[in-house]
Amino acid sequence: MSILVTGGAGYIGSHTCIELLESDYDLVVLDNLSNSSVESIRRVENITGKSIKFYKADLLNRNEVEQVFIENTIEAVIHFAGLKAVGESVHKPLQYYQNNISGTIILCETMEKYGVYNMVFSSSATVYGLQQQVPLSEELPIKATNPYGRTKLMIEEILRDLYNSNNSWSIALLRYFNPVGAHPSGLIGEDPNGIPNNLIPFISQVAVGKLSCLNIFGNDYDTKDGTGIRDYIHVVDLAYGHIKALEKVLSSSGVDAYNLGTGKGYSVLEMIRSFEKASGRNIPYEIVGRRTGDIAISYADPSKAIAELKWIAKKGIKEMCEDSWRWQLHNPNGYKTETKVLRVT
Ligand code: NAD
Ligand code: WQD
Repeated sequence: MSILVTGGAGYIGSHTCIELLESDYDLVVLDNLSNSSVESIRRVENITGKSIKFYKADLLNRNEVEQVFIENTIEAVIHFAGLKAVGESVHKPLQYYQNNISGTIILCETMEKYGVYNMVFSSSATVYGLQQQVPLSEELPIKATNPYGRTKLMIEEILRDLYNSNNSWSIALLRYFNPVGAHPSGLIGEDPNGIPNNLIPFISQVAVGKLSCLNIFGNDYDTKDGTGIRDYIHVVDLAYGHIKALEKVLSSSGVDAYNLGTGKGYSVLEMIRSFEKASGRNIPYEIVGRRTGDIAISYADPSKAIAELKWIAKKGIKEMCEDSWRWQLHNPNGYKTETKVLRVT
């Protein structure tokens, strides 16, 4: 019996593959490599000393997806595959709806055909949209503010409908807050294409000298220092959350949403200071106008995941910044960088 990981070559997927292999699951990874490199899989195999069966396949290609289910006995699916850039989704909504929603529908149809009803899905805190109160808890109404967020919201609804149609389904909807950091080996991490959209990858590239200055998007929010506050979560903690969610879906049925966050919020300026300490580098920055669509404060109420999944985030911003920096320093060109040291843990 194997766990199928869609999008397993990507940032969060590759870290989750490590946790799965270390928990002795057999893995099959399906990824079209549209935003990743098979080098991440090679490095996961190096870190763990275990092998992964990899399919370069597209969720939109029903035959390719079906082939995976024909050739393997799949017990559960961890479904990461999707496009994730908020700004791009505004310009290319159809591409996002087709890739994320149609891809998920084809995956679920194939799962039903092969009698596989267990799924852990990558949702996002973006489904909370703009709320009046923090911390954000799972009972709040969901209302996304951009096409990317709407794909997550719609997929959550589709998966709820699926469970209502057939109670054999067992589904965890994991709402990630702001994933950052990298595996402590420094061998795998986030490898954005082009100029990063997200804060920590941008800061990392300023620290390593690839970019000259960080633009801070507004210092006039109603927060402690005027800059935006987010719940940054170490990707290794997040990855481990998938093991706990998988254990839950394998042992029960139903559909449930869980926040995966730390419950603590840090401002942009706090993250800059922490990164400067971790890297020993100065991060020049400039205050510019607010970014359209940004909210002032977002952080999780993680108590449901703590109570029901027995999962809690353990790593703080010091480790987040140190591990992001190690990955950036040793891999200035991401997965295109040759590795000199393997199996460092
Ligand atoms: P990522 O881009 O690194 O990984 C996604 C992977 O899916 C990539 O390897 C890509 O090649 C693959 N993929 C995309 N479309 C595919 C398709 N049609 N068929 C097969 N493979 C396909 O992104 P990530 O940061 O690892 O995010 C993983 C999941 O978590 C995504 O669904 C994302 O929306 C969600 N998420 C991410 C964040 C974040 O900040 N990184 C936050 C919340 C939710
Ligand atoms: C964090 C803070 C910015 C970059 C996004 C998606 C969300 C989710 C995670 C997938 C904010 C500020 C940022 C920069 C800055 N992804 N910032 N200068 O916007 O919370 O969430 O990624 O589901 O859907 O929207 O993350 O890292 O972009 O921003 O000042 O160059 O850093 O304004 O306050 P965000 P982020």
